[in-house]
Amino acid sequence: MKGRDFLSLAIAISLLLAISTAEVLFEERFDDGWENRWVKSEWKKDENMAGEWNYTSGKWNGDPNDKGIQTSEDYRFYAISAEFPEFSNKEKTLVFQFSVKHEQKLDCGGGYMKLLSGEVDQKKFGGDTPYSIMFGPDICGYTTKKVHAILTYNGKNNLIKKDVPCETDQLTHVYTFILRPDATYSILVDNEEKQSGSLYSDWDLLPSKTIKDPEAKKPEDWDDKEYIPDPEDKKPEGYDDIPKEIPDPEAKKPEDWDDEEDGEWTAPTIPNPEYKGPWKPKKLKNPNYKGKWKAPMIDNPDFKDDPDLYVFPNLKYVGIELWQVKSGTLFDNILICDDPEYAKKLAEETWGKQKDAEKSAFDEAEKKREEEETKDDPVDSDAEDGDDDADDAEADDVEDVAESDSKEDPTTSVDDDVHDEL
Ligand SMILES: *[C@@H]1O[C@H](CO)[C@@H](O)[C@H](O)[C@H]1NC(C)=O
Repeated sequence: MKGRDFLSLAIAISLLLAISTAEVLFEERFDDGWENRWVKSEWKKDENMAGEWNYTSGKWNGDPNDKGIQTSEDYRFYAISAEFPEFSNKEKTLVFQFSVKHEQKLDCGGGYMKLLSGEVDQKKFGGDTPYSIMFGPDICGYTTKKVHAILTYNGKNNLIKKDVPCETDQLTHVYTFILRPDATYSILVDNEEKQSGSLYSDWDLLPSKTIKDPEAKKPEDWDDKEYIPDPEDKKPEGYDDIPKEIPDPEAKKPEDWDDEEDGEWTAPTIPNPEYKGPWKPKKLKNPNYKGKWKAPMIDNPDFKDDPDLYVFPNLKYVGIELWQVKSGTLFDNILICDDPEYAKKLAEETWGKQKDAEKSAFDEAEKKREEEETKDDPVDSDAEDGDDDADDAEADDVEDVAESDSKEDPTTSVDDDVHDEL
């Protein structure tokens, strides 16, 4: 073997080693056989509210052969999960990534996924099944357009306190959550970091390290008045005699005014421009002003550090659990691994390679749709809708029930928990 060949072999091997150091716990590209890896839950089935998944690349895509799973029925609950070898992220980086495309114009619905720990009965997986991490986009109306990152700690779901906006268009986007052993995290959208920080500061997992000293009191001689009345300022003489209103000097007695019949004419009054309100002395900067008093911060006696704050010791399932008013959300390329570089490459090889073609296909589909809409006789389309009126009314009722039901969704109760704490 020549020296150069040996060198390239050595490089090839070291590259292979570098790549193979990434531990991939779960990677789902939804190729053939995906149905053997995923378990559809029976949650909401007896109420006929469990939605069907469509195995498809969608109406527009960058590669018709690259399929994912898409919600296909409106006003339905969706719950599906897959198992992977139990994993602890102790002393390891955890990367959770997937792509999601809302082909429907999503006005209210989630596009998030969950990681679950321990033993889970996948046939019963649903909104009440405890989870460890919930991550991904959530859209509702104009106010909610965010990336959720909920961490469960000691049985309590904790929302991220920072705002992370999500994508709202009808194209594929990749969402990545990275959790490191130094208790820092990053959230990426389309391989771009959108948020990062520490578990200590960006979630309320532990009580805060310092608190305001509850024993501290504002000293009695603490002067926190920034301005004081000027003692030199005196009320001008006659100030209080200035009337608030005066007779309108412009007003004239109407010509047809009859003093005998109408009574004596008096001019209407107008606000007096000279009147400046009750007298107040000028304000001066207080020379003794000490600033607003603040209690000094002390160490919080209730704070106890947890060096394993970032650790989820028995992650075992990945699942999608959603309520959708309008279906059309497509999930693909789900990845759980310990290497952000590996995740980045996967995103580039899938979403990155296909995004331009997908955008063209989408633009094309939009053009067609618009053409058809203008072509359509509005009377005709009304008639078509008429057939469905009964169904629509029924669906609206279902929506009401389901929406109030989804208020018990853990996501919402987390909000309540957080509010209760405040
Ligand atoms: C599945 O998706 C494809 C592509 O959008 C669509 O043509 C088909 O009608 C869908 N099937 C169901 C059952 O929704």
